[in-house]
Amino acid sequence: MSFTRPIATLTGLGSAAPANIVTNLDLEKTLDTSDQWIVERTGIRERRIAEVTESLNSYTLLAAHEAMEQAGVKATDLDGIVFATVTPDRRLPAAACDLQSALGAKRAWAFDLVAACPGWMYGLTVAEGLMATGQGDTILIVGAEKLSSIVDPTDRSTAILFGDGAGAGVLQRNTAGSDRGILATYLGADGDLAELLYIPGGGASDPLSEALVREKRHLIRMSGREVFKAAVLAMSRSTDEAIRRAGMPPEAIDLFVPHQANLRIIEATAKHAGIPMSKVMVNLDLYGNTSSASIPLALKQAEREGRLAPGMIVMLVSFGAGFTWGSTVLRW
Ligand code: ACO
Repeated sequence: MSFTRPIATLTGLGSAAPANIVTNLDLEKTLDTSDQWIVERTGIRERRIAEVTESLNSYTLLAAHEAMEQAGVKATDLDGIVFATVTPDRRLPAAACDLQSALGAKRAWAFDLVAACPGWMYGLTVAEGLMATGQGDTILIVGAEKLSSIVDPTDRSTAILFGDGAGAGVLQRNTAGSDRGILATYLGADGDLAELLYIPGGGASDPLSEALVREKRHLIRMSGREVFKAAVLAMSRSTDEAIRRAGMPPEAIDLFVPHQANLRIIEATAKHAGIPMSKVMVNLDLYGNTSSASIPLALKQAEREGRLAPGMIVMLVSFGAGFTWGSTVLRW
């Protein structure tokens, strides 16, 4: 590595979600499921679901504005925008370009990043790397999803899990001597397991057609039990790697912010890492699994609840479709 960390700090965070709340009791009315089953197996109690006509960028813009306001930066201060999502409003151009236009971030380069649930963390690492090579000092990283647009509402194995939301962070180059910011990162992937959680069609090799829609090949398919096992393994490996790369013992972690997919996955990961649940941020009861929005939504809520203070060591860990995974250690 040709630079010495930390070179960059998150100076602002924002989050937003559609207003519409769908509870487990609401789902009981249309699916063969129960509040008790969902809470026991996942920990999820409700999720936000956007209206069909509500765009992803409408609530993403709110999250971005909140993060920029906290960081004290104007749209024209932004050097770049990284937009992590698997559910852009349209396929071309990048959602990041639509956001750049809506913000009026005239100087910013902009691109989308597809890494599913760890997308925002992948984005942080990419932005830090671009900063190290001189591509800017102030970068907006967004993780936002409208997963309801790719979930089959009649499939109880996925419809209970996923929700919509947006999170954003402003990453800024440190002033000389600062010890705050990104201390360590780790990213991984295993495409051999892609078809345990995927969308079969709708891409270049199987373009949109009436048959594709009829057969629901444009919607998420998931082998839940296998994904569960892979998630626990990858999240555990990611915590080990983060701790090793940061050169800190698990006791040094003040706040652990894991991907919010399933409470049992979170508990198993925390136990593996030796981190007590009192140090773990959990908000999946309110949002379900929002993929790339999950980590920044949880981080922002932790901040609102007063669980983040300057100097604290924060660890982020995530896992998602691909499979992809990763971890980040920050000094707040
Ligand atoms: N309501 C009621 N019963 C259900 C439901 C439901 N919504 N879904 C499944 N069941 C039934 C099954 O049919 C099965 O019945 P059977 O025993 O008669 O066959 C039984 O419940 C147990 O099913 P399992 O799939 O073994 O249940 P499990 O305890 O594994 O929980 C779950 C399922 C919640 C999906 C779990 O496997 C899980 O969370 N997996 C990981 C999913 C995940 O995290 N995905 C996203 C990660 S990547 C990303 O974030 C994009």
